[in-house]
Amino acid sequence: MKICSTAPGKVILFGEHFVVKGTPAIAGALSLRAKVCIEDCTSGIEVVSMNRGWSMKLGEFEPLQLRQFKRIIEYVVKEGYLSKVRNFRAYIWSKIPIGSGLGSSAATAVAFTTSLLEFHGVSYGANDVKRISLEAEREVHVNPSGIDNAIATYGGLILYRKGAVRRLKAKLPKESLLLIVDTGIERSTGSAVKYVLEMYEKHTSTFKYIYRAASSLINEALKAIREKDLVKLGELMQLNQGLLRTIGVSNLDIENIVYNAVRLGAFGAKITGAGMGGSVIVLTTRENYSTILEGLKPFAKRFIPAKIDPRGYVVSSSYAH
Ligand code: MEV
Repeated sequence: MKICSTAPGKVILFGEHFVVKGTPAIAGALSLRAKVCIEDCTSGIEVVSMNRGWSMKLGEFEPLQLRQFKRIIEYVVKEGYLSKVRNFRAYIWSKIPIGSGLGSSAATAVAFTTSLLEFHGVSYGANDVKRISLEAEREVHVNPSGIDNAIATYGGLILYRKGAVRRLKAKLPKESLLLIVDTGIERSTGSAVKYVLEMYEKHTSTFKYIYRAASSLINEALKAIREKDLVKLGELMQLNQGLLRTIGVSNLDIENIVYNAVRLGAFGAKITGAGMGGSVIVLTTRENYSTILEGLKPFAKRFIPAKIDPRGYVVSSSYAH
């Protein structure tokens, strides 16, 4: 038996970090996807990373990805989704750059969860996939808000708060383009989140105001998305970036990208994901996109025009990537 599933990466349009303490956030699914195929094997559980070129048995030396999968397996047994795990081999592919703030670990966890449940003939829904894949995020850092695995599960555009997902019907205007600009600096989500939470404890009375501002910004952003107001959306991105800088997750590379994007005519730009490196999203038009891309070349490693994928996880029986 062979089962394959894919799940999308993500951009956080508004509210990363603040979401960890229960503030709402808005995220979109990317058309870049991770894929996990599971097939029978004679003994044990084996994971093959097609991108990195390794193959390992569970129980041997375990890199992060394997620890994440192990946690998912233990959780599905503990929660009674499965009574016994069959022997299997899992193949993983991903088109989502790793350590770039684009949700590669959550997408892989969601695709793995879906394939695992399908392989065992378990009946499940999107809420189960979201809940189970969150276990894998706990291996990445101790306090995951759950937004990354929620968007990888549901796709489209979502408003997320404390585990609750609202799927947004509104779309970004046709003439707009979200350009992902990768700084090329790989960083750990765990250490960025830890740093912000420590700063929150140290400066709680001031941080409460910053978090309140972040929350108010989400209401404004929802309105701007509904009204297709690109100028306002851009301004709100700049405000959000200012808050992220204030809590300490920006750096000179990111600021150079944000500053130059706006100088070149973008509506706004901000970190997407944990910051301290990773990626910046730039809101522009299809018309102005190439000018911005050319102008930002000295500051970035790679550019990805983001398309919001309406699909969350998808199950198929094909190996084709
Ligand atoms: C990481 O993509 C988003 C953060 O807000 C962490 C989280 O929500 O768990 C930085």
